[in-house]
Amino acid sequence: MEVYEKLDQIKLEAEGHIRVVKTLHALNEVKSKYLGKKGSFSEVMKLMKDLPKEDKPHFGQVTNEAKQVILKYIDDQKLLIEEAIVNEQLASETIDVTMPGKKFETGNVHLLTKVREEIEDLFIGMGYEVMEGPEIEIDEYNFEKLNLPKDHPARDMQDTFYITDETLLRTHTSPVQVRTMLDNDEKGPIKIICPGKVYRRDDDDATHSHQFMQIEVLVVDTNTSMADLKGTLLETAKKLFGEKREIRLRPSYFPFTEPSVEVDVSCHNCNGKGCNICKGTGWIEILGAGMVNDNVLEASGYDSKKYQGFALGMGVERIAMLKYGINDIRLFYTNDIRFNKQFK
Ligand code: DAH
Repeated sequence: MEVYEKLDQIKLEAEGHIRVVKTLHALNEVKSKYLGKKGSFSEVMKLMKDLPKEDKPHFGQVTNEAKQVILKYIDDQKLLIEEAIVNEQLASETIDVTMPGKKFETGNVHLLTKVREEIEDLFIGMGYEVMEGPEIEIDEYNFEKLNLPKDHPARDMQDTFYITDETLLRTHTSPVQVRTMLDNDEKGPIKIICPGKVYRRDDDDATHSHQFMQIEVLVVDTNTSMADLKGTLLETAKKLFGEKREIRLRPSYFPFTEPSVEVDVSCHNCNGKGCNICKGTGWIEILGAGMVNDNVLEASGYDSKKYQGFALGMGVERIAMLKYGINDIRLFYTNDIRFNKQFK
């Protein structure tokens, strides 16, 4: 019978259409093309009125079944489309965790800062206060009150850059001793360290720089002796170069201390046996020190009958060079990032 054939044809055609549809919107269009008010099924239903009465129930049943089949095709395709949408979304939003990330370079403190802070921490731990003084200093504090009168031959070793006859770039951090003593109104005990830049008229080479960094140490009290200085020096040497270090004091001369000593530390590289770092001697000179000269105490208003003091001064570059095996002082100042980076 013709209508049943027609139904079969619609079913087949609908299946073909539905299976290739890729979007939900297109699927809806196909759905109304077959099942909508003006769709193919409505057309077929119109044929029902021409059928004999007894055939109508059967025809109704067959059409209904065909409709259900098409609805099933639509539902299946809907699921496929939805799945495809989700998969596509997942693929486009996936993060590849194995891709290399963006690298943010972080800087690091300069080696000189690192060593300076290490020395500061060591002295802060022993109860010292950190002081600062100006880099542009007056002759009186840089030299005269440190027992270096004008025309004193020891000034030759510390020629500097002069701003006027009386103002200059300080040649050492020792003037901070003078400033601290002058500033102390009660003329009481003092226990300070002072890190800072200093300047010399020097030709730059591997071991000389016209600008470098020192740390000054000053203790003034009523019962201070060479033994206190020695203890402080030994502690400093051990903290900076290792617990096994020993120190050796050699007599020396500084106008601002009496007696004065040059301090050697047993070589951290060879443990005192002798190597190229200690030039075969087993000892390395690290700093100058001494008992504060009475003239220096008196020049800053301290009664040298009542007060004594010890002082020391060290070059931070020298300590850093020894500790880290650096062979050219200019490396600290040429700011080559490859040098700086090594001390992260
Ligand atoms: N001021 C000296 C210099 O620059 C170093 C120094 C030596 C400082 C002995 C001191 C000291 O306080 O007691 O060469």
